[in-house]
Amino acid sequence: MSESVPIVLRVNGEEHRLLVEPRRLLSDVLREDCGLTGTHVGCEHGVCGACTVLFDGRPARSCLLYAVQAQGHEVTTIEAVAAEGRLSAVQQALHEAHGLQCGFCTPGIVITMEAWLAENPNPSEAEIREALSGNLCRCTGYHNIVAAIAKAAARRAGSAA
Ligand code: FES
Ligand code: FES
Repeated sequence: MSESVPIVLRVNGEEHRLLVEPRRLLSDVLREDCGLTGTHVGCEHGVCGACTVLFDGRPARSCLLYAVQAQGHEVTTIEAVAAEGRLSAVQQALHEAHGLQCGFCTPGIVITMEAWLAENPNPSEAEIREALSGNLCRCTGYHNIVAAIAKAAARRAGSAA
């Protein structure tokens, strides 16, 4: 066990002053120290996408970062995606298109796709499938998830028009 160090994490716009061992992963600290259990841990080596958070606005695997590395950066977790209690475009579309999967894979899918749609507002089905390829779920054929992302893209485009 190594000596704990004081860190300040900025998560979802709030500061968390914590004492953590330098070896601890951001994913574990978010869940166990910040109480933000919406971020899940699947593979713990960067493959499954379950632990995805926004790191300075871009999707990142929180199991591949140490919590100490997140100091000075803005971390956003799934808890902050439904702004003021309203579902995001991706969340709403997953609900409507029956694209919701389990609590492990779905938060990572939502975080990843919200950020991706912001940069890819008019994706083809093939592009959606490619963009989803880093979020693994072996329980589905992804059909309804892809349909939901297309629906979310169309809704975002409509509200931007
Ligand atoms: S738990 Fe981080 S990518 Fe799988
Ligand atoms: S991993 Fe979530 S439903 Fe398959």
